[in-house]
Order: sequence, then C-alpha cells, then structure tokens
Amino acid sequence: MSLKESINLKRLPKHVAIIMDGNGRWAMQRGKDRNYGHKKGVDAVREIIERAAELGIRYLTLYAFSTENWNRPWEEVEALMELMVNSLNNETKKLVDNNIILKVIGDIDRLSAEVRESLDYTLERTSKCSGMTLIVALSYSSRWEMVKAVRDISYKIKEGKIDPGNIDDKIFENYLTTRDIPDPELLIRTSGELRISNFLLWQIAYSELYFTETLWPDFGKEELYKALIEYQKRERRFGKTSEQVHEKEN
Ligand code: IPE
Ligand code: IPE
Ligand code: MG
Repeated sequence: MSLKESINLKRLPKHVAIIMDGNGRWAMQRGKDRNYGHKKGVDAVREIIERAAELGIRYLTLYAFSTENWNRPWEEVEALMELMVNSLNNETKKLVDNNIILKVIGDIDRLSAEVRESLDYTLERTSKCSGMTLIVALSYSSRWEMVKAVRDISYKIKEGKIDPGNIDDKIFENYLTTRDIPDPELLIRTSGELRISNFLLWQIAYSELYFTETLWPDFGKEELYKALIEYQKRERRFGKTSEQVHEKEN
C-alpha cells in the first residue's frame, strides 16, 4: 500500500500549519547561496499546496516570514520579498484554478507597496473560491498578534463596547488574525529544529506537533503523507483519560 493510501481520509486534520525551515542549510550543503535555497523552497510550497488541497485539507497555514526575519541581512530580506511578489504573480491563476482562497496573517503594514499590491491582487482574485483556504503568515509573529489583540480589545473597552468582565477565550480569539479559522490539529516543522519560533502560540495550545529532519526544499508529498499518517496514530485526549476518549468513540 502506498503512503497516500494509508491515510484515512475521514480522519484528516481540518487545518495543518507548517513552519517551513531549512532553505538556507539546504543551499549551503550544495555550495550555493541562501537565496538559492529560498527559490527551491517555493517549489516545495507549490507541491504541498496542491497535495494538501487534493487530499481535502480545508486550511493550510504556511509560515513564510516572521517578524524576527526582518532582522536578516537586507539582501536576503529583499530576495525573499521579490520571491514573494513573483510567486504571487505567477501562481494566482493556478490558485484560482484549484479553487484555493488566499488569506494573509501578519503585520502587512511593514511590507513594501509592491508586495502589498501583489497580495491585494491575489487576495481579490481568490476571494470567490470555495476550496482550501491557504493562509500565509507573512511578517507574522504570535506575540505581535497577541499584543495587537490586547490593544484592540482595550480600545473597545474604552469605547464602552466590551465589558472587561465578559472577556473569555471566544472574545479574545475574535481579535486574533486567525479569527474564523479553526485551530490547527497538526503543526509540522521541518529541518530538525525543535522550537516554535513565535508561531501561532495561542492556536497550537492542543495541536499535535510533528518534527522532521527533512529540510524544507526536500519536503515533498511523501513527507506530507508521513506527517498525516503519524498524526492519525496520535491519541488526542484534551486533558481527559484515555478511557474517556475511547468511551466517546464507541
Ligand atoms: C526558512 O529557511 C525560510 C525562512 C525563514 C524565510 P531558513 O532561511 O530559515 O533556512 P535555515 O534555517 O537558515 O537553514
Ligand atoms: C521560522 O524560521 C520562521 C519561518 C519559517 C518563516 P527561522 O529560521 O526564522 O527560525 P529560528 O529563528 O531559527 O527559530
Ligand atoms: Mg531557519
């Protein structure tokens, strides 16, 4: 049986989030510069988006550029932004053909006018699609997002529109950039790093974590299938006992 056939399509995670890491090391291993790795990384992005949509995953979030990544050498930041613009321009039609809706989370005010224009175009073109939602985390960090949420809630309190005593999980979530998007059941990180790097800290409270040594440009469909199969072996207890979980199933 192929890896793909081993996936139980009835128990797919609704939302998969991926920290795409290792482009730089992939390139260095080949004696190339880091930006070559980022270019190859785009091929992996294309493949994973298509395969996830084909399987029937409803939401796919890709961590493309973090708040902290602004501190990289300027030439690398520029190359990444250029890659973003080119990818958006080249791939919009394919996204629409595959019925994929694009969403962006992050501090987009920090992006250049050129990047924002390309984003706006793709966001608009894909807005009527009804298949998988592709969420790109760009200039994103979880602390930025949470501080922004607190600030926005505080303004509402000041205006008398929110009673502080009523603030609960649901209200807080409404002020996150991921409002209306279910929490990821599965978080994947490539390249062997065992950390979260300021990604979706609130949303992954109960996500299953999957780490692989594979560097992002080498992360192909079979790697995605492996992660999904591993996810399906996990028992998600949400604080309950194993017996309670099984009782519910029977
Ligand atoms: C991930 O690969 C891409 C981004 C963070 C933009 P890296 O560029 O972090 O690659 P490594 O971790 O240096 O190998
Ligand atoms: C995390 O990767 C951010 C993205 C994948 C966009 P990094 O390579 O920036 O993470 P750290 O700094 O090594 O933790
Ligand atoms: Mg990295």
